Amino acid sequence: MNSKVETTLNEQIQKEEYSSRLYLAMAIWCEVNGFPGASSFLYEHADEERMHMLKLVHFVNDRGGKTQLMNVEVPPQEYDSVLDIFTQIKEHEMFITESINNLYGVTVDEKDYTTGNFLQWYITEQVEEESLFNTILDKIKLVGRDKAGMFHIDKELEGMTGGSPAAAE
Ligand code: FEO
Repeated sequence: MNSKVETTLNEQIQKEEYSSRLYLAMAIWCEVNGFPGASSFLYEHADEERMHMLKLVHFVNDRGGKTQLMNVEVPPQEYDSVLDIFTQIKEHEMFITESINNLYGVTVDEKDYTTGNFLQWYITEQVEEESLFNTILDKIKLVGRDKAGMFHIDKELEGMTGGSPAAAE
């Protein structure tokens, strides 16, 4: 495997691992602050990020490279509100989209079309994730500090979970 591509893929693995930890920290905050729906949704999303990471890990290993795990930061563990959390998620996902686009750029520069083709899945996934989080954030902004509205959104987030083991606990 092209070493520049491999290094950049390993960096993306680290970012996906961090994303999973970040959403885990956010799920924990929601769970202890009375937002069970948002918590389930975020536990499930932490699992999804782990899946994003594993897909990259297997790709690197299957293509003759070797995944190098790196240090993963401890994410923030205190948040002001659910609005604060989803605002930060949106920013984080925009950062991940930029990172995937840069990674794709490396595969183009290095003429590694196989990896570029593999990354198409991530490019599509980022479009979907940004759209999903924009929709949720818009709804949260709409209810503002209204407790009844927030209760309703929390229920809606509960309904958006697909019933993964982590979300169901
Ligand atoms: Fe792995 Fe939410 O992007």
